[in-house]
Amino acid sequence: MRKVHVTASTEYDVLIGEGLIDKAGELTKKVVRPCKCLIVTDDTVDELYGDRVQISFSYAGFDVSRFAFPAGEMSKNLSTLSDILDALGVARLSRSDLVVALGGGVVGDIAGFAAAIYTRGIRFVQIPTTLLAAVDSSVGGKTAIDMPFGKNMVGAFHQPSLVVTDTDVLRELPSLQLYNGAAEAVKCGVLNDPDLFALLEGGDWLDDVDEVVARCVAYKRDVVAGDEFDTGSRAFLNLGHTFGHAIEHLSGLKLLHGQAVAVGTVMAASAAGCPVEMITRLAGCMKRNGLPVRCDYDARALADAALADKKRSGGTITLVLPDAIGKCHLEKVPVTDLPAWFERALAAQEALKL
Ligand code: GLY
Repeated sequence: MRKVHVTASTEYDVLIGEGLIDKAGELTKKVVRPCKCLIVTDDTVDELYGDRVQISFSYAGFDVSRFAFPAGEMSKNLSTLSDILDALGVARLSRSDLVVALGGGVVGDIAGFAAAIYTRGIRFVQIPTTLLAAVDSSVGGKTAIDMPFGKNMVGAFHQPSLVVTDTDVLRELPSLQLYNGAAEAVKCGVLNDPDLFALLEGGDWLDDVDEVVARCVAYKRDVVAGDEFDTGSRAFLNLGHTFGHAIEHLSGLKLLHGQAVAVGTVMAASAAGCPVEMITRLAGCMKRNGLPVRCDYDARALADAALADKKRSGGTITLVLPDAIGKCHLEKVPVTDLPAWFERALAAQEALKL
């Protein structure tokens, strides 16, 4: 088992290894004394792992209840949040009790937010069951729900007490889900880790998924330690996201987040004027991992969609722009220049026949 220790306002371990889902209760008991807990999950994950996790926590001495909501981004809303808060109240959890978020990014975000506000904040444990959640969203304490006016527009910073990632669970993922998470892992490689990029570029990395997750989490640990509340350098984690969120929005959420980030990361490199060989290598890595690289929306529509994003600050928006594989920089650009950035990316896409 690998362990990455996160030092934020709350310190905690991220445990990564095979077979951990059945040990989640025992591992949690080492950091949270047995108490009441509510496992929050979605109906897909509930069917696959709900019983096993419930047994594990009961066996470790926790008094366990369980709540499942319909799987999918459409559930990450006020109505589901209200249902989770009701479930916490009905199970009579107090401030010293625990939420267990069992699932992917949607579950982690909404269950974490419920934990952040129920009785003004109770502890929670993340058990990510998707690669995307394992390499990104389960670590760092960002919790949120989507609102009609934008994705993740209401939320809180609330760090988990423990993250338990079972890599056997990740190996069982359908390929689409695996690819969805691979985009965030490639993002980490482009930001900071050429060796990770090379591993992902090879394509057959599933046997090394522990290594992939541990490298991404270690990088995220460093970023979060430097800027937990996202006022500066944490913006690096948004590589591919300004372009990607615009594409995701225009697709009506038909495109998965990772797919949009894959296209967005290639667009960021193109817009930044990276060398052709680098853009081609980056696009090749995404494709090798089952991810799209082409954007079929026009620059004006993309810029309008990007401006609805909360990363905008007054008249400027911060873009994350690659310099090389393993090195990026931040650039504040006037929002009025955004269409030109998108146009540059689309022109490069045509020129390189992506
Ligand atoms: N997923 C981006 C962040 O945690 O800041």
